Amino acid sequence: MATVAVCPGSFDPVTFGHMDIIKRASKVFDKVYVCVLNNTSKKPLFTVDERVSLLKEVTREFGNVEVEDFHGLLIDYARSKKASSIVRGLRAVSDFEYEMQITSMNRVLDESIETLFMMTNNQYSFLSSSIVKEVAKYNGAVSELVPPIVEEALKEKFQEQT
Ligand code: PNS
Repeated sequence: MATVAVCPGSFDPVTFGHMDIIKRASKVFDKVYVCVLNNTSKKPLFTVDERVSLLKEVTREFGNVEVEDFHGLLIDYARSKKASSIVRGLRAVSDFEYEMQITSMNRVLDESIETLFMMTNNQYSFLSSSIVKEVAKYNGAVSELVPPIVEEALKEKFQEQT
């Protein structure tokens, strides 16, 4: 039976750190669904459609990766895809508490779906969408942090806002 995983997140916007995790997950699982979900504690810069479209573009090279969005619980999405696993990236100890909370909640909702963590590549251990947005907002260089198409989208977004 094919192994299926979900890589969930806000992806506002997708960074090289996310791409590293998606690429590695795509080598471990037969099929990977990257899902843009709502994080109620964040106010996104990009619309869901914009985030999905950027993700589709930058994951095009991975044949077994599909990008979607979902309005609801991650666990319901994972069930609908018959996924055995949810894959999340862990950057540092500071991520742990938050991830433990989400993982524990998801396990209460459905204990048959495992959450697996991949340590982020050291190169990206400091990297987050928030820090990228902050740098881009003040015209700092983000070319080492995000793909060119995302860099362009950030420029446009901040130009729109001024
Ligand atoms: O990239 P993020 O913001 O850390 O991702 C968090 C996300 C979107 C995966 C999480 O907020 C989520 O799963 N949202 C969907 C709603 C849900 O299922 N909540 C219950 C688990 S806390």
